[in-house]
Amino acid sequence: MNFNRVAPWFERLEKMVFRDQMQICRTAFLSDLPAIKKAALIGEGNGTFLVQFLEHCNCEEVHYIDSSKTMLDLAQKRLQKSVIPGSTRIEFYSLDLSLDAMPDQNYDLIVTNFFLDVFSAAMLKNVITKITSACSRDAHWLYADFQITGNRFQRWRAFAWVKTMYLFFRFTAGIQTTSLADPSTLLDRNGFQVKWSTEFDNGLMRSELRQRK
Ligand SMILES: C[S@@+](CC[C@H](N)C(=O)[O-])C[C@H]1O[C@@H](n2cnc3c(N)ncnc32)[C@H](O)[C@@H]1O
Repeated sequence: MNFNRVAPWFERLEKMVFRDQMQICRTAFLSDLPAIKKAALIGEGNGTFLVQFLEHCNCEEVHYIDSSKTMLDLAQKRLQKSVIPGSTRIEFYSLDLSLDAMPDQNYDLIVTNFFLDVFSAAMLKNVITKITSACSRDAHWLYADFQITGNRFQRWRAFAWVKTMYLFFRFTAGIQTTSLADPSTLLDRNGFQVKWSTEFDNGLMRSELRQRK
């Protein structure tokens, strides 16, 4: 799996298909975050979330993790263009979390936006276990992703969208998974309970703020 090829087009495609809904979903609970010391933004792509995150969150360390070098370059360029004080507190890591370890421990915030959906159910368990074992005891988790839920029409619509996206990313990024695995049970089991949750685009996307108890 490699997002290098699709990275330069990702933002344009997102806006064409979903307008501003994905960004609204990513940023829904930014104002609800407590004081954060060390955050890991994982599979965070081209940096659309990063700039808004830094405007809201004054945390001491931000570890920005992605397996695509092109995505990391785009995020770094976007950051250079913005005028956010203290952007030196960000470290960029080129890591494949299906193979590599987390770069550090004791994160008190994890962010996964439209990232966990790239994994099959079996792989998702490994990745979530790896991430949670690098978190502090009362860490927060900001989550945004697609979902298949709701009434018959909503489920059918979401199913069609998700299938289309997996097909597209199979050819452009080599994604292997073909069905969406909901990480809720795994997050619950690892102690991350939902504090706030909301849906967007007629239930196609869900944003959650979770905290470990
Ligand atoms: C669907 S994109 C989402 C990007 C961004 N979070 C967003 O909201 O637009 C998935 C991102 O996860 C990254 N990714 C995929 N598999 C990964 C892995 N095993 N380890 C780290 N990053 C990965 C990709 O390079 C890509 O940037």
